[in-house]
Amino acid sequence: MPNAYISGTGFYVPPRVVKNDDLRTQYGIDTTHEWILQRTGIEERRFADEGVGSADLAVPAAQMAVKNAGLQMNDLDMIVFATLSSDHCFPGSGVYLQEKLGLCKGDDAKFVGALDVRNQCSGFIYSLGTAASMVKAGAAKHVLVVGAETHSAALDLTTRGRNVASLFGDGAGAVVVSATEEDRGVRSFKLGADGRFADVLSQKVWDIKKRPFIPQNADGVGQIAPEMMWAQMDGKLVFKNAVERMMRALMEVCVAEGITGQDIDMFFFHQANLRINQYIQQHLGIPDEKVCHNIMRYGNTTAATIPILLAEAEQQGRLKRGMKCAMVAFGSGFTWGAAIVDW
Ligand code: ACO
Repeated sequence: MPNAYISGTGFYVPPRVVKNDDLRTQYGIDTTHEWILQRTGIEERRFADEGVGSADLAVPAAQMAVKNAGLQMNDLDMIVFATLSSDHCFPGSGVYLQEKLGLCKGDDAKFVGALDVRNQCSGFIYSLGTAASMVKAGAAKHVLVVGAETHSAALDLTTRGRNVASLFGDGAGAVVVSATEEDRGVRSFKLGADGRFADVLSQKVWDIKKRPFIPQNADGVGQIAPEMMWAQMDGKLVFKNAVERMMRALMEVCVAEGITGQDIDMFFFHQANLRINQYIQQHLGIPDEKVCHNIMRYGNTTAATIPILLAEAEQQGRLKRGMKCAMVAFGSGFTWGAAIVDW
């Protein structure tokens, strides 16, 4: 059975920087830079322009990952696309990305499979686990795993929505998971979920139990109430569960590998809130030099946080061949996941 390693990384963030103060001055939100910074560590985020969606953001990230893997686009056997801000209700963003990458063109088009993963903040770890399992099973040699989000289009950018709107940003990260006979790659991974908390962090938009699923006015135009249109979150409950679940998931993958935190060279935490990660870091005694953060610059990019971190760390020379890495994420569902990867 081959091993499954990360052969290339890439990322892309849109150029428009939105600082905390811009939320107040440009959008009229009653907030301050200090409030957001103190509670979350966020200083700024990127917003994509009108006309740009998640599959668009994924294109340059995917191209960079494939190039860094030393591959051609048509070497890919499969696309796994993690997002909560898919371009449309259906089809998923994976097929849009496949077409945009040119994978449907020419006589040698392979029409590779395209799978969308709807696991929000833990979507990348779920996707990595899926891709690695496929590679190890011999079902694919090179799987493109992308996390991409266009949150800016679906945030209630008013004072009413400030508790959620101040947290999120747009961006995309990608990795290629490839087969190798070398003794490296994705080792243990652990995925979890607790559906009792499904409504605690959700954006419902419609209710498929209703007839029709979106209420219509007399002219047949769909009407979505604000509490359905925008994400709802109990921030304190999310914070508490994130800390507990991420720590436990990390410990479980370490136990499965027969290692301790001290054996890990680099930790890649989901970037939801710097305070969540600092709490875990302190509690587990993880030194600063083993942790990468970018939430200050990008906010929470949900499924994209970890692949962006990986790509930046590799680009900066912090993440090197031979390092033992831990990745951990938690988010809506609640869902969570952790993985140990020998780089
Ligand atoms: N600016 C100013 N005031 C604000 C803002 C803002 N951006 N957002 C909320 N407030 C106000 C609230 O309206 C409330 O005012 P009130 O007392 O008059 O009603 C007050 O601040 C306190 O609100 P809380 O929600 O209780 O504030 P809290 O201290 O819990 O901090 C926060 C909120 C930062 C969201 C925190 O709960 C948190 O980070 N939780 C984790 C949530 C998270 O990370 N979610 C990301 C998605 S899930 C994931 O990726 C893990």
